[in-house]
Amino acid sequence: MGIKTSMIFFIFTAIFFCLVYLYIPITKPSIAVSSNNILLKSQNPYPVTFAYLISASKGDTVKLKRALLALYHPGNYYLIHMDKGAPENEQNEIAEFISNEPVFSLVNNVYMVGKPNLVTYRGPTMLATTLHAMAMLLRCCKWDWFINLSASDYPLVTQDDLIDAFSDLPRDLNFVQHSGQLGWKLNKRAKPMIIDPGLYSINKSEIWWVIKQRTIPNAFKLYTGSAWTILSRSFAEYCIVGWDNLPRNLLLYYTNFVSSPEGYFQTVICNSEDYKNTTVNHDLHYITWDNPPKQHPRSLGLKDFRRMLLSNRPFARKFKQNNKVLDKIDQEILKRQRRRGYTYGGWCSKSGKNSCSGFQSENYGVLRPGPGSRRVKTLLTRLLSTKNFSKRQCR
Ligand SMILES: *[C@@H]1O[C@H](CO)[C@@H](O)[C@H](O)[C@H]1NC(C)=O
Ligand SMILES: *[C@@H]1O[C@H](CO)[C@@H](O)[C@H](O)[C@H]1NC(C)=O
Ligand SMILES: *[C@@H]1O[C@H](CO)[C@@H](O)[C@H](O)[C@H]1NC(C)=O
Ligand SMILES: *[C@@H]1O[C@H](CO)[C@@H](O)[C@H](O)[C@H]1NC(C)=O
Repeated sequence: MGIKTSMIFFIFTAIFFCLVYLYIPITKPSIAVSSNNILLKSQNPYPVTFAYLISASKGDTVKLKRALLALYHPGNYYLIHMDKGAPENEQNEIAEFISNEPVFSLVNNVYMVGKPNLVTYRGPTMLATTLHAMAMLLRCCKWDWFINLSASDYPLVTQDDLIDAFSDLPRDLNFVQHSGQLGWKLNKRAKPMIIDPGLYSINKSEIWWVIKQRTIPNAFKLYTGSAWTILSRSFAEYCIVGWDNLPRNLLLYYTNFVSSPEGYFQTVICNSEDYKNTTVNHDLHYITWDNPPKQHPRSLGLKDFRRMLLSNRPFARKFKQNNKVLDKIDQEILKRQRRRGYTYGGWCSKSGKNSCSGFQSENYGVLRPGPGSRRVKTLLTRLLSTKNFSKRQCR
């Protein structure tokens, strides 16, 4: 019972704390997430904390809700960005979903960007959205790693697994898949210049191409890689706060670069003496391409299940809405019950039961990692082995 009493005290202190201090810069005031009850963030009992950005655009609401429930954990933070180009009813549907989900409002760790951005595919507005989210999350919350996902991504491990697998890692590691060999991108990415109308127009349209081309930079070296990254808090601060001019200069440079999310963090980190030794050359995502590769990765299905598991990666993309393989992942890996269920974890499991029925306050802080944790640890050990780690950095 002692725990219950302190929990109540905890909750009341937290309400006060919240009203005075955390005046939600993040949610739309009209649809603000309920702040009735909150767990005090400074007392997060988990060994590591992740801050997720989940981006979605028009037509993504079903996928977004499912991915959010599958990724949810009370120790983490979740910021949802809905493209400003998505219809208002979809924006409202997500806002209502967040404020009506009982555990979300109890813990108050799921937010929505209140002033969303108009995002142009392959334009710098995509990158601006990510930086905007990092800035908001740095300001509001204490966390160790920032993870960038979209509504078409899905986890291949539980959050308890991920927290457990990351708990022994140095907190300054950055998972940024990259290469200094630009190949075909030299002519298709580095030389052309584009302009993103999303920067100055309220109407959605595509990027447009400038006729002239520019030369390859010689003030820094260009790198390219995956748009999916996991960044340390320290590196996020380096990119956002701007005490060194490199991240800002490169941001201005990348404004006219096609597909800037595939190069910005790569080029910043590899040109920074302070951070290049923290780079792990991997994006921890399972993604497959057609042969020869098309513009978008293949959509994953049931026949990919085994290979996804054997890859030991914690995330995969991309999935079509309610594809059968998602049900299999829910059942066999996440132990999620249909529809509204959360992914299995110590925080929501009743003793003796292998499934989740809601927030069990006496279990707040308990981790129940399973085979997923071993899989991710296997991958991390391989990536961080002295043979592989520094040899693959910024080449
Ligand atoms: C972040 O995630 C989104 C997925 O919605 C992606 O499109 C974007 O390019 C990612 N990366 C960066 C650096 O913004
Ligand atoms: C831009 O959008 C506004 C409001 O949605 C509309 O009134 C206007 O006609 C649009 N302009 C163009 C050039 O499409
Ligand atoms: C990064 O690693 C290189 C090579 O191992 C080393 O010379 C350099 O001092 C390291 N930089 C920092 C900031 O630790
Ligand atoms: C280094 O990575 C390769 C391929 O990813 C892997 O096969 C190998 O086992 C790794 N080395 C170590 C020492 O873990």
